[in-house]
Parts: sequence; structure tokens; C-alpha cells
Amino acid sequence: MFSDLDALAPDALLGLTKLFAEDKRAKKIDLGVGVFRDKENRTPILRAVKTAEERVFGWETSKVYTPPEGASGFGDAVARLLLGEAHPALADGRCAVVQTIGGCGAVRLGGELLKRVGAECVTSGAPTWANHQPLLMAAGLRMKMIPYYDAEKRAVQIDGFMGAVEKLGPEDALLLHGPCHNPSGADLSREQIDAVLDRACAQGFFVFIDAAYHGFAEGLDEDAYLPREAARRLPELLISYSCSKNFGLYRERTGALIAVAKTPDRASAVKSHLLNLARGNYSMPPAHGGEIVAEILTSPELTTLWREELSAMREAIRENRRLLVRTAAEMQMGDALSYIERQNGMFSLLPLSVEQVMAMRERHGIYMAGNGRINLCGVNEGNVAHLCEALRDVAGK
Ligand code: LMR
Repeated sequence: MFSDLDALAPDALLGLTKLFAEDKRAKKIDLGVGVFRDKENRTPILRAVKTAEERVFGWETSKVYTPPEGASGFGDAVARLLLGEAHPALADGRCAVVQTIGGCGAVRLGGELLKRVGAECVTSGAPTWANHQPLLMAAGLRMKMIPYYDAEKRAVQIDGFMGAVEKLGPEDALLLHGPCHNPSGADLSREQIDAVLDRACAQGFFVFIDAAYHGFAEGLDEDAYLPREAARRLPELLISYSCSKNFGLYRERTGALIAVAKTPDRASAVKSHLLNLARGNYSMPPAHGGEIVAEILTSPELTTLWREELSAMREAIRENRRLLVRTAAEMQMGDALSYIERQNGMFSLLPLSVEQVMAMRERHGIYMAGNGRINLCGVNEGNVAHLCEALRDVAGK
């Protein structure tokens, strides 16, 4: 049965962590997988999470199955956090939420739902997160790429993007990142979001939002502009949500798929299909991460603590962006990296070829995704000069 299987290379992004660990050089730098790291290069468990976890251990008396939609209170709390307490889609009962196996699980489940209702293809701005295509292809969909990021201008190429969006029709589904575009960090402005939603209303294409970095751009409410407006203006919508980064729950695999439907009745029908699709795959999500998130979001004291910790992570990444840009300027590299300060979240793209990315790795022990994506969390006072020197060596930047 297995004799014709050729071994595959490790996942290009996740494989970076192992390659980095195996590198014996003292001055190596990990700018690979999207994980928050503090100044000491650690990814500590958030205090709000640790406290919530202790509470869960205290009240949990059984390991019996959780309900198929996930930990009690989780879906409701996440939808209220993202859409806002008073959102009309929630008040009108038009939302269905299921807990998923991380943000990946939410993208996959959303893709499977789209496939079940007859979609063939999802349209996305290029480039997009490296795992979007595998997840959506595994759901039986194709991906069509349209222009999004202008590598020359280091910004969204809005004319090219809108030009392609204007050609979408009722059969199409458009994947949008909200917020903190992965891999570029270049987000649509509010005006640009409004323009996309105007087109969606007028042309009837479906919108699928991937929200994996909620709270990492400007703040929890500010970052929710796209999902809130989309859920207010569009009759139907899917949102995949990840708690990996903003709650630091990476290994707990905690996410949600939020479906907005035309009526409460349609929302129930959608939910029944999501649960059916999940049952045919993994039955139900793991409980622990969902219980932690529900515990935090239903406790005013833990919510306050978590919001403070999230703000601190966001500010730390902003500071790393400033540090890199400032150091590059001090090292007479001009303002070639200044765009990095204008971008959001963990990632920006360095203007490097695949060969230059490999040279950064081989000559300097600096690890990043093959497209030049860097995780700004890996930049700190101790390594920023080495990073700039390596960039100058490899790219003359
Ligand atoms: C990333 O983009 O680095 C993260 O979302 C981790 C992953 O699963 O790819």
C-alpha cells in the first residue's frame, strides 16, 4: 500500500524551527514561524492564561466529551469579542459559531462548507499565508490569485487589487486577511475595506475573512473594523478566528469559525452542516484551550489582565519594528527598510530573492520564510546589528 509513497520534505514554514534548532552558531536569529517572543526570546504563557488554566483545573470534574460546537461559552465569547457586544448580526441571531482546531481548522472547515454549497474556487490577494492553499485545496477548492502586495513599493497595490475585485461575481469567494496581513503586514485601510465591501454588496461575491492576529495591529476594537463592517453589510460571511497568537495558545489548537447568515434559521442550518463536517473528520475540538478562552472572556478581571498582556505584545512588536528601522538608518543603510514601521502585526517581507534568503541562512544563521517574510518578534537589541550587517552583505541594503 505504501510502497509508492515518496517521502515529502518537511513543511517549509514549520520546518524552519527544526533547522534553526540544529544550527550551532551562537549568532543565529530565528525570524521564521509566527510566534510571539519577548526581549529574552521566550514565549511565556500569558498570566491571564495561567490563571484561567488553574481555575479550569479547579472546576473540571470530568473528561467526558464536550458539546460538538466546543467548550461551553467559548463561541459566544469569541463572537462578542470580535464583532462587539452590540453587533446587529449577534442581536438578530444571524451568527453560528463553532470551536475549531486552531485557525487552520477554521480555514479548512470554512473551505469544506464552501465546497459543500457548490463553490469551486477561492480568490485571494497574492502573496498569502503559505498554508491557505494547502488547507483550501484539501477542502477540494482551487485558489485564484490576484494582485495585492507590490514588492517594489512595499505596500498594497490597491489599483491592481480593486481592478481584480471588480471582476468578481456571485459565484466567487474572496479571502481577506483581517488584520495583520500574512506575510506582508500591509493591511487595507478603512477606506479600502469600505470600497471592497461596496463591491461585495453590489456584485454579490462571498467574503471569507481570516482573522488570525486580532489585537496585534492597533487594538481589539480597531482591528475588528473589517469583520464588523462585513457582518453589518453583507448577508452572508465566514470568519476564521485563531486564539493561537492573541491568547498565546499555539499548541492548544484553539480557534473558531464564525458564519453569518441571512436569518437565524439559515444560521442554524449552517451550524448543523459545520458540525456534520467536523463529525466526519475529528468529531469535536479539544476542550482545554476553549475552556481557557471562555474563562478569560467571562471574567472581567482576567479580561482586563489579558487585554493588558495583549497590548504589551503588540507594543513590543511595534518597538522591534522601530528598532530595526532605526538601526538600519544608523548603519548608513538609508531608509530602505522604513516601510517596516508602517506595517502591522508580526510580519513584513524583506525584498530578498530565494537565493538571498538562503544566503542569509547559510552565511549568517538568519532564518526566515523563503519569500523573505520575517517575524519581527525575533528582532531584538542583541541581534539587530547582526541582522542589518547580514542584509548589507547579502543584498547591499
Ligand atoms: C505562521 O504563519 O508562521 C504561523 O501562522 C504558523 C503557521 O501555522 O504557519
